[in-house]
Amino acid sequence: MASKVIIPKFGWMMTEGQIVKWHKQEGDFVAEGDILFEVTTDKSIMDVESSVEGYLIKVLVQEGDSRKVGDTVAYIGEEGETVEDGEAPAAAEPKAEAAPAEEKAAAPAALSENEYEVCVIGGGPGGYVTAIKAAQEGLKTCLIEEKVLGGTCLNIGCIPTKALLKSVEVLDTIKNAADFGVVGDGSAFKLDMEAVQNRKNQIVKELTGGVGMLLAKNGATVYNGKGSFVDSNTVKVGDTLIKAKNIVVATGSKIRMLDIPVAKEIPLYTSDDVLGLTEIPKKVAVIGGGVIGIELAYFLAKAGAEVFVVEFMDKILPNIDVEIAAIAEKYLKKEGIEIHTSAKVTEVAADGIVFEKDGKAIKESCTAVLMAVGRGPCTDGLDVENAGLKVEKGAIVTDEYLKTNVDGIYAIGDVNGKYMLAHTASAEGLTVVENILGHKEKFNYNRVPSGIYLHPEIAAVGVTEEQAVKDGKKIKVGKFPLVGNGKAKVEGCADGMIKIIADEQYGEVLGVHMIAPHATDMIAEISTIMQLEGTVDEMLKVVHPHPTVSEAVHEAFHAVHGKAIHI
Ligand code: FAD
Ligand code: NAI
Repeated sequence: MASKVIIPKFGWMMTEGQIVKWHKQEGDFVAEGDILFEVTTDKSIMDVESSVEGYLIKVLVQEGDSRKVGDTVAYIGEEGETVEDGEAPAAAEPKAEAAPAEEKAAAPAALSENEYEVCVIGGGPGGYVTAIKAAQEGLKTCLIEEKVLGGTCLNIGCIPTKALLKSVEVLDTIKNAADFGVVGDGSAFKLDMEAVQNRKNQIVKELTGGVGMLLAKNGATVYNGKGSFVDSNTVKVGDTLIKAKNIVVATGSKIRMLDIPVAKEIPLYTSDDVLGLTEIPKKVAVIGGGVIGIELAYFLAKAGAEVFVVEFMDKILPNIDVEIAAIAEKYLKKEGIEIHTSAKVTEVAADGIVFEKDGKAIKESCTAVLMAVGRGPCTDGLDVENAGLKVEKGAIVTDEYLKTNVDGIYAIGDVNGKYMLAHTASAEGLTVVENILGHKEKFNYNRVPSGIYLHPEIAAVGVTEEQAVKDGKKIKVGKFPLVGNGKAKVEGCADGMIKIIADEQYGEVLGVHMIAPHATDMIAEISTIMQLEGTVDEMLKVVHPHPTVSEAVHEAFHAVHGKAIHI
């Protein structure tokens, strides 16, 4: 049955489009995702991809002609199928793609107790979201988790770190209350680490318990135990053999440690240990100025420890925009955190750490050490070789559809080593379910936002200015300092900035970087505009509420044209 090809809506202001060029001709085979034609609007030219597979059986609108958004311009159908001009065949909507799901949904009846349509290994944000979604789509689904549902993120990652950071933020607000005209003895307040831990543990317990309930509510079966491959369709948990048509590996990551001499006399912490501290050490050396190192250095400093960070690269937060990282470094130094960059730690001694900087070995004393030099994919005990899975540098290799080299096996989240973030793992999982349902959905890593939870927060999505220049892109940059934003001043935090990277010709938003209060929430607006392939000029038309820090984002878009209002 033929499917309509229509003029899609790119951006909310688009009402019509002109077909510039057909990339396929009548009679051509079209795969899902193939570019069908280019359409121009008042702002730019965009490629229109096919959402179905078949043959281009009829082209209704020729190059140079314009049509309204939603108008049919062609039909895709089976080879030899015909349609009349302007005909609207029954069930022809290209988005009528639920059929494979319904077909699959009917399948469970034929499956025996330990047979599934989908078996997910690992119950972190990648695995549990995949299992819930697959079950919602009517696929008989199970999930195997060897420890606690929620994975790294809920138990020893995102959530507990942010709970601890919230406690020090409250303390900080009280201590600086006089800045807001609130007087009293703020110095009498301190952290009760037992109470701080209890609060954190309660949040974790509620969330991880909630995951179990959601899985049960949606009908996904949970197996407790370690999953390991027997072959490419069979996973073993204890004595149980599980057969599955589709297997999704979501086993996450594990902590990396430097292979350097370490004295036994000094406490050597990982992020797991810091998250469980009931006493704050006097002086902590943080090895690694990446995301974990910096978030936990900030927590420890605010909780009362003397902290210094030693980072191998020439700046902390190496993946963050240079200017944003520099502002963050200034803030951290103001908190009393000492930072050594271009410095390589070579030894953990009994009373301090040794690092090489400018060709010299330097020793700095401390009472505890936090090692935060990265995480690596975890395939321990998974017996991936029994399934024939390809592994490179410890990560299960996947393509843009999250498929491994073995049919029916997918790998998502930290274990595929691409983007070690919780929301990436979950979003990849949703993509995998689409692909299991028979759609061909690619995952676009360029639009994955990230956040760092300091005060003020850091957030980013898309390319950095440095990367865009390195890639030879012609760009325009807009910057807006928070000093021109009323709400930032009201919040007592006006020393940040918003930075926009846009394509020079069409103004497409390529990347946004911010250090500002609420940055980790505000970045979602940018992810949205990038997903819609929006432009700077479209963002200028979006009315932002006053007074909010989001107005600074709007202003940064004005700054791309050199026309910010409030600076
Ligand atoms: P995981 O969450 O690691 O889950 C994998 C699960 O699989 C685990 O529960 C594990 O027990 C289980 N498992 C492993 N092997 C097997 C097996 N063979 N059989 C059965 N079960 C198995 N990301 C953010 O986006 N925002 C943040 O603020 C953030 N903060 C972080 C802070 C810290 C301190 C850390 C360490 C990480 C943080 N992350 C953050 C990263 C985030 O936690 C991970 O990217 C995310 O948890 C990855 O999800 P996942 O599902 O791939 O794996
Ligand atoms: P990371 O890769 O971000 O940082 C590790 C740092 O250690 C690097 O900057 C590296 O240069 C440095 N390093 C390595 N060897 C060193 C040496 N010998 N001496 C000094 N420095 C050295 O890894 P990190 O911080 O452990 O985090 C792991 C992952 O967890 C991150 O990639 C991130 O995706 C995720 N995460 C995300 C958070 C968020 O989204 N807010 C928070 C915390 C973690």
